[in-house]
Amino acid sequence: MNSSATKKKKPQTSLKNKSILLGVSGGVAAYKAIELCRRLRDEEASVSVVMTDASKNFVTPLSLEVASMHKVFSSLYEEPMAHITLPQQAELMVIAPATANIIGKFANGIADDLLSTCFLSFSGKTVIAPSMNWRMYENRIFRQNLEKLTSLGVIQVGPGQGSLACGEEGPGRMAEIPDIIDAVRTAFSKRDLEHEKIVVTAGPTREYLDPVRFISNRSSGKMGFAIAKAARNRGADVTLISGPTSLAAPAGMRFIQVETALEMAEAVEKEVRSGASALIMAAAVADFSPSEKSGTKIEKAGELLIRLRQTPDIISSVAAGKGKPFIIGFAAETGARVERAREKMKKKKMDMVVFNDVTEAGAGFDLDTNRVTIIDKKGETGLELMSKDSVAEAILDRFSEIKA
Ligand code: C5P
Repeated sequence: MNSSATKKKKPQTSLKNKSILLGVSGGVAAYKAIELCRRLRDEEASVSVVMTDASKNFVTPLSLEVASMHKVFSSLYEEPMAHITLPQQAELMVIAPATANIIGKFANGIADDLLSTCFLSFSGKTVIAPSMNWRMYENRIFRQNLEKLTSLGVIQVGPGQGSLACGEEGPGRMAEIPDIIDAVRTAFSKRDLEHEKIVVTAGPTREYLDPVRFISNRSSGKMGFAIAKAARNRGADVTLISGPTSLAAPAGMRFIQVETALEMAEAVEKEVRSGASALIMAAAVADFSPSEKSGTKIEKAGELLIRLRQTPDIISSVAAGKGKPFIIGFAAETGARVERAREKMKKKKMDMVVFNDVTEAGAGFDLDTNRVTIIDKKGETGLELMSKDSVAEAILDRFSEIKA
């Protein structure tokens, strides 16, 4: 097939029309539930809120009513069947913040308020975002309760390490909102990559001239991180190998940090040879590296000539080796040069190439959106401008289709 096979695809928002029951318990992080509610609604999910009485000391029902656009419930008796109807209408429960108290109740089948009773009558998946002082978080009884819930399939997100409301430092800080959204996505996502072992690369590399100076590029790592997270959410065993970025290490995968193209080549080689089924090279690996690296800081001089040599091509060497995985590469071009991307795919023996024109508005470096064309041996699909998360899903959809 050729470019006549090009068709546009609508971006899929995976939380669209999902029905979520948000439980808010009485921790200082309860005010963050407003933001969580808004972000879920930005994703076009429908959110109903159940508050514990204690949580009303930290956030008002009215604020959550406005944020969710639905009536907020907290009494077992105001609407006598709410503990049955609310869970029945929900596809997922999210408890944020989840205090030691509510976790203790959930783990022991106590149903003495609306939220704990909803949990008991709910048969779907539940995500909890624990939030408490680190001493409570480390308490052995609490840990037993938490372990009981997670062993029964409750999905835990966080807590993070950091400054707590009490002024102390330690584990117990509620997970950040994007991480909670991520856990919600995981709970909803397809599990079509459960038997895949996928190595993803992300970010730029740094090629040193001397101990303090390097040549690099504008890659933020966002595309590669989005692919790694989406693959993890779909059940794959993921290794993310990343050059320096400002992004936090994603949970639920092996995370290997590298700096230079050579380090990235070595890390990829090692991971792929240990039995990967796919390699997704989203990293903007430097094509050139200084021929010589000075051991000391180069002194100022009128003019400095730098000689560069080509770095080893990671894709080509993986493709030439034994047990070649399915290889997906990226072709970031300046200009609409789809044909060049297709040639690159053939030359480097890739199975799929994701082309984007970095000069186009909304596409390319350091943005949250991208407009790409997915090219494989059977044809090509031009996608609309969409979030990098949606691009990641579309790439994995095509990979999954081809492998099926
Ligand atoms: O040929 P070009 O560098 O444009 O190809 C881009 C693709 O090749 C990307 O997927 C990138 O990760 C990969 N690459 C590589 N090794 C290099 C440079 C780029 O595998 N040394």
